Formats: sequence, structure tokens, C-alpha cells
Amino acid sequence: MPIPTRFSTLATGLALLGALTIRAQAPATLTVQVNKPGAAVNKNMYGLFFEDINFAADGGLYPELVKNKSFETDDHLLGWKALRGGAALTSYVVLTDGPIGPTNNHFLRLSTQVGGPEAGFVNEGFRGMGVKQGAEYTFSVYLRRGPGSIAALNVTLEEPGRPSGGPETAASGPALAQARITDLTSEWKKYSVVLRPSATFAKARLKLTVEGTGTLDLDVASLYPKDTWKGRENGLRPDLVQLLADMKPGFLRFPGGCIVEGRTLAQRYQWKETIGAVAARPSLINRWNTEFLHKFTPDYYQSFGLGFFEYFQLAEDIGAAPLPILNVGMACQYNSAELAPISAAKGPNAPVAAADDAPTLDTFIQDALDLVEFANGPVSSPWGAKRAAMGHPASFNLQMIGVGNEQWGPQYLERYELFAKALKAKYPAIELVSSAGPSPDGPLFDTDSKALTQLKADYIDEHYYAKPEWFRTNVGRYDGYARGGPKIFAGEYAAQSVAIASPDNRNTWDCAISEAAFMTGLERNADVVGMASYAPLFANVDAWQWTPDMIWFDNLNSYGSPSYYVQKLYALNKGTRVLPVTMPAGAKNGTDNLFASAVVDAPTGDVVLKLVNYSGSPRPVSISLAGAKKLGKTGRAQVLATADLQTQNSLKEPKKLAPQESTFTVKGSTLNYTLAPNSFTVLRVPAQK
Ligand code: AHR
Repeated sequence: MPIPTRFSTLATGLALLGALTIRAQAPATLTVQVNKPGAAVNKNMYGLFFEDINFAADGGLYPELVKNKSFETDDHLLGWKALRGGAALTSYVVLTDGPIGPTNNHFLRLSTQVGGPEAGFVNEGFRGMGVKQGAEYTFSVYLRRGPGSIAALNVTLEEPGRPSGGPETAASGPALAQARITDLTSEWKKYSVVLRPSATFAKARLKLTVEGTGTLDLDVASLYPKDTWKGRENGLRPDLVQLLADMKPGFLRFPGGCIVEGRTLAQRYQWKETIGAVAARPSLINRWNTEFLHKFTPDYYQSFGLGFFEYFQLAEDIGAAPLPILNVGMACQYNSAELAPISAAKGPNAPVAAADDAPTLDTFIQDALDLVEFANGPVSSPWGAKRAAMGHPASFNLQMIGVGNEQWGPQYLERYELFAKALKAKYPAIELVSSAGPSPDGPLFDTDSKALTQLKADYIDEHYYAKPEWFRTNVGRYDGYARGGPKIFAGEYAAQSVAIASPDNRNTWDCAISEAAFMTGLERNADVVGMASYAPLFANVDAWQWTPDMIWFDNLNSYGSPSYYVQKLYALNKGTRVLPVTMPAGAKNGTDNLFASAVVDAPTGDVVLKLVNYSGSPRPVSISLAGAKKLGKTGRAQVLATADLQTQNSLKEPKKLAPQESTFTVKGSTLNYTLAPNSFTVLRVPAQK
């Protein structure tokens, strides 16, 4: 009998408990047909869904510390406050005459006749600014001196004041770093200084004050860490990218999610606005800002510092296939449901709710065609040249595009059809992801799925946000799916501990283990399910709108939820071909709370089993590896287990629940193993290639 040779304290306890009860409980018998490999596992299986929700981009993955650095949001002073109500300033005003550029046309003009240390502004950052002792932060700004004799701009990174240790006030606390910018000129000029904080602080702020009297114009005031992923200049937050890279994800879906659609067509995501010089990218309202009254976030905008070039680069960095999702000429159907007219014809026969100046569908289709050229085209092509100018002459190897996010109904189907026709005509090898709407069943889902099958869609994107039990009881969802039709992209899913979009949802082990159980059904149906991603990906603990989420962070730290570790274990152990598993009666559909799937991993030759025991008791299993030629002597187990289904990770206990590794001895071709109570176990058994 294979005996685990090393366990964590918890797992050891559970294993011992299992050993005591093993005599009483007959093992469940499973057979893995090692000699009958089935469908190939898609190389892109188990990927990532990124959306700028929960401050995932600005205030998260995109580590710019200044909120509204270009004064381009609707409230142009969002994130900025005049010191002491501006008493030292004669005036402060946001202007548009003589801006630094046509797409960045607002700037801040400070005028003071009084002068003094309080003549200036503070920026609050994204729920404060997280800075680390000794690390380097580049402060840069465009300045233009007006009439008067302003001699310098003083830059201070400081703690907010807390008189007598009480709550934060507008007054200054201790300075963490300071710099002085001089040599001001009467033309716009960019200045840079490096700040090195004297202490680590999670909620610092930036103070900018002028020296002397007169007028000074400011724009694109940025504070950017030097410590970024790969040390890049507009690079990403390294701890967050590392969590993604550690998963070795198969694909990266971006930029959403509903953010693709916008509440109105004018507020849709337009990739062309997100590339090129960072300072020239216009801001746009984030559709999640006031979506939920219970999580009202009116200061939520998109700066697009993290734009399409950066998304492609991120995908490349972490070895994931890029999967951009594009607007199909439809605003969110839960909001305005605006439609882009199919043709240039406007007036009484135009589709419902089209604004007079709404772009026609042709614009959206052209955007998609141009995106392929931007990602893959030669540097001699107009859009390929833009990619090259941003520092990436090589192709990003784009092979998939999503057509619409959570769209449904005849308006979607007719737009999808035209979109697909144009894209396939020019780029037949690009695979298209189509939408089955927001629900995994019901008449809208059925109609969309049927029509998309008739249209010979490559992938249908199915979303399931449901209670944990839904995931366990639907493990057989794809067993009966028609073969030969479109492949399924399980594009967004997460078990909801309370209800969909409830702010009381938590990332519990109950949710994660239920997702693990469901995923055995995804895995064994590899001939139907080609891609899968948990959603949403990121959440800022101080600024989220939607829970649960896979990875949580504050301004300095981050952690993976139990669902993160489930996704990671699947992604790192996805193998190359499915192996049929014969389960005890009842177990296949989850009624027995035992779930299993198996794959073979060609590069290593390992047979890889995934086993979920959703019960409070240890569960002995006897697994026959039928037809295995020659097995190695030592197997490797990776176990996520805790008896308490309500267990969650947190910033204080980031790895309260994380995989524990152990080895076990393999004797003969039958494995006897005891699954811990409420556990997800991955067993890797070395076998002859
Ligand atoms: O993941 C959060 C949201 O859920 C996505 O934006 C949307 O596609 C779905 O409704």
C-alpha cells in the first residue's frame, strides 16, 4: 500500500485519522484506464480572466500611485485636494488652453500671491499610496511657469497627519521622502526625480507645493515604482504578476467582462485609445464605479496606463495565449443596451436605442481587423508599426478574439454573424469566441447556443456564478454535450457563498472545493471544454465592488484565495491527454461526494489524478491503474485540505489554506490512498512514457 512519506502537520493529522478509520470503511474503487488515453487536453486550458473591476488595474496591477495624474476625469480634481482649502493659493483651476497634447487637454494651474509651505495640492492615491523603505519611486511631471517668480516645485511623500494618533487629517504627517524641482521654463517640460522613502507605509500621499509667488501649470504628475515586473518603465506590480506567472496559465482574457461593453456605447472599451504614449491616453469612467449602490465607488476611472500593448506583453511574459474580448456594437444589456446600427442607415429604421452619432457596426469590425494587425502584422503595416514603435517588433501571436462579452438575443446573433464573416474572410486562422449570455441555462442560453452551433462558432463562452452546490451537482454538465460542435469556453465562473454579486460572498474553502469538484467534469470532457477561467481575478481589499475574487491585495501585499490554489493545481497538472476513470456507482455525478478525473502528462510520463472528497470524513480509495506499463516507485501528492469549509485566506494569514506536498510509495498498479476530509488531492504517479 502506498504510504505518504511526508505531510504537513494538518495533513499528517488527517492521514492518521484516515488510517484509524480505514479499517472500518471499505475503499471506493476507481479504475484509471492508463492504456486508453482519450482526448487531448487543450494547450490553453486553465487560463486567466482579467477585468478592471475591484481596482484591478489602476490601484492594483498597474502600480501608478497618483490618482488622476492628468486631470482628465469628469471631476478634473478627483483625487487632488488643495492644502488647507487653498488658503495659500490665490487660485487653482483646471484649464484647457495650451495643453500638453490634444488627447490630454486638461492641466492644473496654481497661482499664489502669498506663497508659503502650504501653497499646493495633495494627491490621495488609490486608497493611499503603498511605498517601501529604501525602494525607488520616480516622480515625473510636466511643468510650465507662468507670470511671477515661482522658483521650484517641492515634492513630498508623506504620512497623513494624525493628531494625537487619532484619525487621518488634511494636515501633514512625517515626511517619507522629499525632492525639489527647479529650472522651470515658460514652455511645457517634463521633469523627473527619484524618491526613496525612509519607511514603509501603506497609505502615504503626495504633496506638491510651489516655492515663491506667481503661476505654475502642472500635468501628468506621476509617481511610479522602479520595482516593476521585469523592471519595465510602465511595468506592472511584481507580486501580482508573480501570482499569475506561478499558475502557468494557458491564456489571458482581457479586458473583461462587462467593461468591454460599457454602460453606453460611448463608454465602451476602445483598444485604440489605450496604446501609444502613456501620457497621451485619455481617461474613461469605469462602468463599475456606481453599478452597485452597496459598493458605490464614484472615483473609479480607467487611466489606460495598462492598455492593450501591456496586456499582450503580460500574456507573453507569463506564457499565456492572448484572448482579447471586443465590443460587438452593443452596450451592456443590463444597462442602456444601446446598439450600433448594422449599416450606416440611421433614422426611423435604425436599430433601437442607437444614438444619432453612434458608430455603425463597421467601426467595430474594423477595430477587430486592425487589432489583428496591431498584434501580428509586420512592422511595415500601419498597425504593426505602432506595435513596433512601442518596443515590440515581433508578433504577439494573437490566435483568438472574443466577439462581445455577455451578449444575448437576436441583436447579438446578427452582429456576431457579420463580425465573424469579416474576420474569417481576412484571418481564417483566428478562432472566435462567441457569447451564450450571462446564464448557463434558460431560453436565452438555449437559443444562443443553438444558433451559434448553426453558425459553426469556434468557441461558446459560458458563464456560471452560482451556489457551491450548483458546482458539485453539475459536475456532469458536459458529459452529455454534443460532440463535433463549437468548443466550450468556461469563460467566467466562481461559486458564490451567498448569492451572485452579494457583497457578503466570501472566498471560502466550500466554494473552492466545489469548483475543484466541478472542474473534474471540465477535465474529463477535454474534447468539448477547451478553456476555463475563474472570475473575477483581482480585488483591492479597500476598493472592491464584486466578491468573491481569486486574488486579493492591499497597497503592499497580496494573497491567493483557496480558489486560486485550486486553479493553480489544475493549471500546473493539466497533462496532455484525458484518461478514462471508472467511478463507483453514483460518484460520477457527484451524488457520492467523491469526484475524480485523470490525465497523462506526456513530457514527464506521469499519470495525474485529481480527487475531491467533499465530506467531513477521511475517504479511502483504491485506484487501479489499468494497463500501466511500468510505474515509478515514488509518487507526489499535492493536497488542499481543511475540515472547516468556511476557511478563508487573508492578508494576515495568506497561506492558511495552501497546497501541502508529500510523497508516497507506489507498489504494484493499485494505489491505496486515504483522502483527507474536505480535500482536493492531486496525485502524480510516474509511469513509463
Ligand atoms: O466577473 C464580473 C462580471 O460578471 C463580468 O464583468 C461579467 O461578464 C459577469 O457578469
